[in-house]
Amino acid sequence: MFYSEDLVEEIRTKNDIVDVISGYVKLQRKGSSYFGLCPFHNEKSASFSVSPQKQMYYCFGCGAGGNVFTFLMEYEHYSFPEALKVLADRAGIALPEQEMNEEMKRQQNLRSQILDLNKMAAKYFYYQLRSERGAAGMKYLKDRKLDDETIHRFGLGYANKYSDDLYRYLKGKNISDELLAKSGLMQVDERKGMYDKFWNRVIFPIMDVNGKVIGFGGRVMGDGKPKYLNSPETVVFDKSRNLYGLHFARTSRKKQLLICEGYMDVISLHQAGFTNAVASLGTALTSQHASLIKRYTDEVILTYDSDEAGVRAALRAIPLLKEAGVNAKVLDMRPYKDPDEFIKALGAEEFRKRIDEAQNSFLFETDVLQKSYDMNDPQGKTAFYEEVASKLMRFELELERENYIEAVAGRYGVSMESLRKMVNRMALKGMNVAKAAPARSARTEKEAGILKSQKLLLTWLIEYPCLYRSVRQYLKPEDFTGDIYCTVARLLFEQYDNGESNPARIIDYFTEPEDQSRAAALFHSTLSVESTAEMEKAFRETLRKILEHSLDERSAKLDPADMEGLQKLIQDRKKLSEISRIHVEFQ
Ligand code: UTP
Ligand code: MN
Repeated sequence: MFYSEDLVEEIRTKNDIVDVISGYVKLQRKGSSYFGLCPFHNEKSASFSVSPQKQMYYCFGCGAGGNVFTFLMEYEHYSFPEALKVLADRAGIALPEQEMNEEMKRQQNLRSQILDLNKMAAKYFYYQLRSERGAAGMKYLKDRKLDDETIHRFGLGYANKYSDDLYRYLKGKNISDELLAKSGLMQVDERKGMYDKFWNRVIFPIMDVNGKVIGFGGRVMGDGKPKYLNSPETVVFDKSRNLYGLHFARTSRKKQLLICEGYMDVISLHQAGFTNAVASLGTALTSQHASLIKRYTDEVILTYDSDEAGVRAALRAIPLLKEAGVNAKVLDMRPYKDPDEFIKALGAEEFRKRIDEAQNSFLFETDVLQKSYDMNDPQGKTAFYEEVASKLMRFELELERENYIEAVAGRYGVSMESLRKMVNRMALKGMNVAKAAPARSARTEKEAGILKSQKLLLTWLIEYPCLYRSVRQYLKPEDFTGDIYCTVARLLFEQYDNGESNPARIIDYFTEPEDQSRAAALFHSTLSVESTAEMEKAFRETLRKILEHSLDERSAKLDPADMEGLQKLIQDRKKLSEISRIHVEFQ
């Protein structure tokens, strides 16, 4: 769906950033800005700033920054259209309806009907658990050491002994058999007709990332089979795109997500304070899960069961996660079977230690691999090293490869030298291994200094509009050489030429959240200066540095035959000396 730039801008201006962020972060006024504890990283002193003038936020600690849209996208993990919708609603602005064809309307209608139905069913199960008939279910959950708050938080419920209880309840609400059949809540049998899918089980409602009930899991209260029954996939329930517990975990503000196998693992981890635990829903982790995870974190800890199935699940998940750009570590729960058992036996503190000790996924893989070789036999041992060497070869960065060679050598008692030789020999045999990244040179140091100056000047330009005249006289947007700097400068210059300054609007020019943060950073540099005289001096110095750098770049690229270009360059060079004489006033 495409929304016009004007509409986007209207929505942004009607949602004051200080008001919106105050709903999430406690802010205190300090000078012209508000400060609070950054919601995007852990900190004790407030380095998160929100500026009412700029209508932007920026964290001096972690560099997160942007406008009101960026904030909701980062904090709530909304997509841009989602953030736009929320803020439009907040400001009472109606968004134009998306054009839908009949089929799309029908599907959307069905989705919302099923979601409503699921909500009704979840409420019914919830109520049953707390009624007299639910006593067995409540006892079961209590025996499993779940407290009232946890039972409530996860919306746990109970389906009682009669197999048509929910059916009759929903029929009483005038729900059609057709809709019931599509909901996954009912079983349809030619002879018996329609009856409840879940009965005589405790119920775990499954919620999507927004907290909407999309399906259910039901557990027998004892040793019956099957242990868990799950809703089938429906128009609202796609198992490979949802993770149990994610709607809580996504706001846990922890660095990693913990990925475990089952409902009970997630629930007992949350109860023990590990609110970043999620589980795939009775299926193996898929690549869609991995992309979903990547939206929230770059690192996960696999807390799969200690049995062979758990090891296999981890081995499968590691490359899928890696593919999506998520680094995995593997937690060792032994001698306990799963997180639920572990926590019951040793408590949260011990589990936290295991998180800290979680194993690097590569070494986890090689450990497993080692078990399939006879390490007492020279032949077997060599074959093992060869297989490891072929895995090591796949690390493209030399430094990373070296680090792993060192780790593997130490771990399996082989010399680094011979392992490295083995890896290199294999690499020579035809596999191409990318070259290591060049070291940070003096040139990049200088570049960093220039970028800092460019950033400082852009910040000043926003804070002191009076500077624009002088800047415009000496600099063109192209003189800003950092990749997004030039774009930001161009947009800002355009705004000033049109008599406005609206940095928050510039943020919307960028579509990637990362670019938005980087653009926001450009308007938030700091330089502590004592007096206005010092500030003026710093301004001239900064202006000169930027121009000089840009001229250097231009002359390096200049074609010696280009006389006109050379003339222009000489002229521009003269400007350099003028800069020391310009007079500016900061006000
Ligand atoms: P587990 O058997 O490890 O279950 O299966 P658990 O969560 O530890 O269960 P408790 O502690 O005995 O109650 C892990 C997950 O596999 C799915 C469920 O999602 C379960 O949480 N599963 C398991 C099923 O879907 N059906 C089954 O019959 C068993
Ligand atoms: Mn288990």
